[in-house]
Amino acid sequence: MQVRSQNKTVGFVPTMGALHEGHLSLLERSQEKCDISIVSIFVNPTQFNDPNDFLKYPKLLEQDIELLENKKCDVLFCPSVEEMYPNGLEERLNFPLGLLEEVLEGEKRKGHYQGVVTILDALFKAIQPDFVFMGQKDFQQVLVVKTFSKELFPNIQIISCPTERDSDGLAKSSRNLRLSAEARQTALRLSQALFYIKNKFDQQNPSKIIEEAKKMFLEHPNVQLEYLEMRDSNTLEALSYETWPKNNAVLLIAAFVDSIRLIDVLLLFEELD
Ligand code: PAF
Repeated sequence: MQVRSQNKTVGFVPTMGALHEGHLSLLERSQEKCDISIVSIFVNPTQFNDPNDFLKYPKLLEQDIELLENKKCDVLFCPSVEEMYPNGLEERLNFPLGLLEEVLEGEKRKGHYQGVVTILDALFKAIQPDFVFMGQKDFQQVLVVKTFSKELFPNIQIISCPTERDSDGLAKSSRNLRLSAEARQTALRLSQALFYIKNKFDQQNPSKIIEEAKKMFLEHPNVQLEYLEMRDSNTLEALSYETWPKNNAVLLIAAFVDSIRLIDVLLLFEELD
């Protein structure tokens, strides 16, 4: 690759398209730090545990291309399924992820993270980036990617970037495009619950505040809470309240709103890089 022989640094933003400001802010971080920035768009079939979710995932390639051109992205990589899965869609990396694929997203979306590391393995080999920029909203995914790349791609640095939010607090997500105006209002409960816990944190004990926040999801027919938990931000182990307070706690939430699955996350104390 010519870029390599010129000793230029390559930043990579892997995406599944339907780009929003969150993705574009990752691109900006890459452009600030690296000589060349590459964005990939590939809706990866093997990471969808629900085939319906895969079919309904928004696909807006023309609009995405325009956004990337406006942002002066150097390279857009849109591989085909055959290129990424030359041996067929049954192929998996089968990288041991331990607890990270047993709890929260790992538990609720069986096989999801093996699909993610399988496609990132193929993308990292194709692109050979120096830096990869990922959104902190997919907090567990970032931990998974850091774990697998530390072992298989030790020269790549994974950079986790803060969650972009709409002015009312809703975390930006491609899935928001599928929300009706009413469902979008309901979806605000996710971020509201997280900020409620964070803001009240000093005053009461954490489990009580979390239980209070969970009540926001009762008595509403169009929202089903999957989990709302506080965990260790390095390992996702459950936090023992006896050793509380800790400075490495993260709040994580997942809920269905009108059958659309949304997640959000908030660090209780510090912002991680
Ligand atoms: O976060 C995503 O959009 C996807 O999981 C990723 C990292 C592009 C892998 O398909």
